[in-house]
Amino acid sequence: MDKKIAVILGDGIGPEVTRQSIKVLNAVANRFGHIFHYSEAIMGADAIDKTGNPLPDETITTCMNSDAILFGAIGHPKYDNDPSAKVRPEQGLLKLRKELQLFANIRPVSAYPSLQHLSPLKTKQLAGVDFIIFRELTGGIYFGKKELSEDQSRASDECSYTRPEIERVAHLAFQYAEKRKRKLTLVDKANVLETSRLWRKVVQEIAAQYKEVRVDYMFVDNAAMQIILNPAQFDVVLTENMFGDIISDEASVLSGSLGLLPSASVGNKTALFEPIHGSYPQAAGKDIANPLGSILSAAMLLDHFQLNEEAQAVRKAVDWTLANGFVSKDIDPINNYSTTAIGDLVCDHIERNRDGGRRSSNASLNQSTII
Ligand code: IPM
Ligand code: MN
Repeated sequence: MDKKIAVILGDGIGPEVTRQSIKVLNAVANRFGHIFHYSEAIMGADAIDKTGNPLPDETITTCMNSDAILFGAIGHPKYDNDPSAKVRPEQGLLKLRKELQLFANIRPVSAYPSLQHLSPLKTKQLAGVDFIIFRELTGGIYFGKKELSEDQSRASDECSYTRPEIERVAHLAFQYAEKRKRKLTLVDKANVLETSRLWRKVVQEIAAQYKEVRVDYMFVDNAAMQIILNPAQFDVVLTENMFGDIISDEASVLSGSLGLLPSASVGNKTALFEPIHGSYPQAAGKDIANPLGSILSAAMLLDHFQLNEEAQAVRKAVDWTLANGFVSKDIDPINNYSTTAIGDLVCDHIERNRDGGRRSSNASLNQSTII
């Protein structure tokens, strides 16, 4: 298979984790005989520094002409504490989502047995946790009309949804639910918000077409509690843009580290793959960030190309590094490996098609164990 991948390294730890994913994709290409062509593009604080624009037109063109986009992370502290900043890195990502109509953000959440001690939750609550959040990504309060009165004493953000916006992401979520445990939970605030009542109505109608799927409805405040109290109850969670943003960060603690979680943003054409973590500026350039969120996003990219065996090989390699203690500092503050070393170990596992066993020669290569 011959595919074009746009690469946006982005800000903070984005470049170093994304470089591991490129290595991993190359290892997959070697083992399975594919060709991936990469074109680099810029976005976020990196693009503001270089061009003054968080999403230059060339980036949009490069992305549109590619089969998929691999993206690192966005954000820089110099903009976070300046509410008057006119250009912000995040505008780049939001505009790209809108331009490419990436209407569904898919975030799988699972608890790795070897990492359960890292989660703030008790082990018994983590058993059987394996769900997937479908977050609507191009509508709602993120994209509604924004106003700030002239005297700056009043501000508003409008939240609106149209029926087609709800339908397209809901169909996708139902289709996934059919292939999984056939349970879908709509998370909303229908006791208060008009938009949520429309979501409920549309989802109820669509549910009639997916008779195998059990649907339940949960208010977002209760969902936030249930994700901690009884996360194993969820299979597919469907929700609007901002609720999805919040509950997916919350759900990430179940896996033991935010650094592990991948995501895919899909629309009608080119899809985008990125770890759910942010740019983690304190770690940038130190080769200590966890590359697995990005590498698992590359696995989702392979699935998107229908290269399922290849995606499985990546996941197997990731599981092997975790099970054998080849982990980054966020997972083990004492005995840990560098971003690059973990990337190399994942590649090595893929290329050799091994199914386990620690090889001391490679384990010591690039090792950054503190003790
Ligand atoms: C995410 C991020 C973005 C969002 C930011 C960077 C705009 O938090 O992808 O979840 O809020 O959607
Ligand atoms: Mn977020």
